[in-house]
Amino acid sequence: MPPALGRERPGSGGGSGSAMAEERALAMVTCTAPVNIAVIKYWGKRDNDLILPINSSLSVTLHQDQLKTTTTAAASRDFTEDRLWLNGEEADVGHPRLQACLREVRRLARKRRGGSAEDSSPLNLSYKIHIATENNFPTAAGLASSAAGYACLVSALARLYGVEGELSEVARRGSGSACRSMLGGFVQWQRGERPDGRDSLAHQVAPETHWPELRVLVLVVSGEKKQVGSTAGMQTSVDTSPLLKHRAEAVVPERLALMMRHIRERDFEGFGQLTMRDSNQFHATCLDTFPPIFYLNDLSRHIIALAHRFNAHHGRTKVAYTFDAGPNAVIFTLADTVAEFVEVVRRSFPPAANGDQFVRGLPVGSASLPEELVAAVVPEPVPGAVRYILHTQPGPGPQLLDDPSQHLLGADGLPRGWP
Ligand code: DP6
Repeated sequence: MPPALGRERPGSGGGSGSAMAEERALAMVTCTAPVNIAVIKYWGKRDNDLILPINSSLSVTLHQDQLKTTTTAAASRDFTEDRLWLNGEEADVGHPRLQACLREVRRLARKRRGGSAEDSSPLNLSYKIHIATENNFPTAAGLASSAAGYACLVSALARLYGVEGELSEVARRGSGSACRSMLGGFVQWQRGERPDGRDSLAHQVAPETHWPELRVLVLVVSGEKKQVGSTAGMQTSVDTSPLLKHRAEAVVPERLALMMRHIRERDFEGFGQLTMRDSNQFHATCLDTFPPIFYLNDLSRHIIALAHRFNAHHGRTKVAYTFDAGPNAVIFTLADTVAEFVEVVRRSFPPAANGDQFVRGLPVGSASLPEELVAAVVPEPVPGAVRYILHTQPGPGPQLLDDPSQHLLGADGLPRGWP
């Protein structure tokens, strides 16, 4: 559906007549998109330009009430150049991946319009565009900001140009993992076979409502920018790690089938075990890369040990960790375990100053820990090591915001409050 055209521009006088109205037209769309966290990891490309992976992957889309990117895209005949603002700062609009997404959306729009007798949209494809995008979480802190960012960009551009249908292929050109953020719930990115990438697409395995008890705790240990970006890191891994080659060819295909079964059956024991093993194998391929890449730090290892002690104490898998290209831990668990595990984390890493801000997101009940649990699980406390815990759950894919007051750009096409 083409976007509504905003016709109010300050001082434009509100002229009548369709030619006048079109001349002043400013088309603007705002979308939000989610972060996703892989439980079968993507690591390694077979085509760097098209962003085609060496193995399929599977992820859980996280709820946008807690983590999201918001993007406004606008086009106008009055704009003299393409411009981009990231978190309120003007940024390079010429980034090749951004340009690839823009080119692909425009190509699809052209194709769509070519099919109909007449171009009913007044939005000229050669109009310059303005894009403003914001995350409600730290950029490049290992929270998959590029996935949400490109999924949001592609969703907003597609709406702007009236393009519908398969868009994961376009989002993939921005960042591999972004194709999985185009859908909610449990999502598989199929590796595909074709050299042109037309079959390297994301599809939903199950909707976010499929497993209502599933919860996610993001343990934010560092807001710092990560050391080695995933793009560069995975390239070195492809070039040097025999373990990565083995993983892609011999391990992942079987794991994917197994993971889909665990999800279908809502089998937390199986899901959690495989999630932890796959995260560990991904980080093993990083160590097998030469020179090696270290995304986990002492604190990440501390959290891994804590999770295993917690599970051992209960005699089953109650929590499962996974780590991407950064030290933040993402913990999967079920609703009935959240309060107890959060208390274990609080006792293990007593918050430094902002005690009341330590747990964010969905509410967490209080739990008192039995003495034997504390004795068996809680280590020597490391104060302040975990900055905060974000409590969230699986959620839906990108959303269109209808309310014009939520646009990040004003009627003049500039960020609100921009000097
Ligand atoms: C460890 O999607 O960020 O998070 O395709 O080069 O942009 P590019 O890489 P990116 O890699 C994500 C890697 C990962 C695992 C995953 O999300 O599957």
